[in-house]
Amino acid sequence: MSNAYSADLISAPRLLLGPGPSMVHPRVLRAMATPVVGHMDPQFFAIMDETQALLRQVFQTENRLTFTLPGTGSAGMEAALSNFLEPGDPALICVAGFFGERMVEIVSRVTADVRRVDAAWGEPIRPAQVEEVLRTRPAKVVALVHGETSTGVCQPLAEIAEIVHRYGGLLLVDSVASLAGVDLPVDRLGIDICYTGSQKCLSVPPGMAPITIGPRAENVLKARKTKVQSWYLDLTLIQKYWGTERVYHHTGPISLQYAMLEALRMTVAEGLPARFARHAAVAQLLWEGLAELGLRLFVPAENRLATLTTVVVPDGVDDLTIRRRLLEEYNIEIAGGLGALRGKLWRIGLMGYSARSENVVTLLGALGRLLRSH
Ligand SMILES: Cc1ncc(COP(=O)(O)O)c(C=O)c1O
Repeated sequence: MSNAYSADLISAPRLLLGPGPSMVHPRVLRAMATPVVGHMDPQFFAIMDETQALLRQVFQTENRLTFTLPGTGSAGMEAALSNFLEPGDPALICVAGFFGERMVEIVSRVTADVRRVDAAWGEPIRPAQVEEVLRTRPAKVVALVHGETSTGVCQPLAEIAEIVHRYGGLLLVDSVASLAGVDLPVDRLGIDICYTGSQKCLSVPPGMAPITIGPRAENVLKARKTKVQSWYLDLTLIQKYWGTERVYHHTGPISLQYAMLEALRMTVAEGLPARFARHAAVAQLLWEGLAELGLRLFVPAENRLATLTTVVVPDGVDDLTIRRRLLEEYNIEIAGGLGALRGKLWRIGLMGYSARSENVVTLLGALGRLLRSH
């Protein structure tokens, strides 16, 4: 594959159609070659300010505390779960896949009082499940994943948000696989804490976790009695660097911050409705093409996540062989199933700059040929 992105370190550039990282636009890559300045340089502060303003637009929020954390999506998850809970606080985690499980793992290191509601992998959490638990035992934080990348389910949030607030909890949402690809109006839904990762629908290289914190959550942060277990991810300290005080906390990842700003400018210039429509349209094209190849999708249409499609590996077809041949013969990366779904699913991501019809057609062509020859 001839490719504008090739560099000496990589002999075979790939078409990235897995669950992330997604393709990075050449404009964003070029932005990363901008000369590095210091993290306390006024020019860099201007970049941080613009990043915050654009992030608010992408999260669809007015939240004052909106910035990026150094670290991948899991840093966002860890910061979100550990800043708003103290030892002994009750937490409720909704688990419908691999990343819901990761939330339980993280939160159990913060507080011993963890409850969970579960949905079968491939199904969303039902609002009644959440209400049933909260009725008998309110939780300070209720956490769930919007786009569960392990299953390809898009979790409806409106009803659950209403229930969580009725019982006085904070709603914490993982939007790592959905933000900037699927509509997620943080303020309209009343989401209190929301984080994402740089490498999916924003199409920035991995290594950053944008996060936004609403007023209710900010008050909880201010009222903490104990220190956050992680100094590095202590949002009270980090906000002093992003706010007007500009107190040094860590050396900002300068080049990634350039990339983030360029990607956010492009996202806002495209317009959120147009961006969501693009992701929906290419997903539809993929789903139709997969059906024409005789492949079955794992998630029913009404719960499907546009940015990540899960395909059932047909009987008699070896998951690994097909993925290896896609990579070696066609330079296309897709992913296999996680956890219990290992070997059973293919996961195809159409996120950010990867979400283009020419990529769908290329993948369908290659996959069709491989399946016919298998
Ligand atoms: C829904 C979701 N949450 C969290 C993460 C963790 O992000 P990272 O791998 O960037 O740490 C991922 C990664 O794929 C994800 O898909």
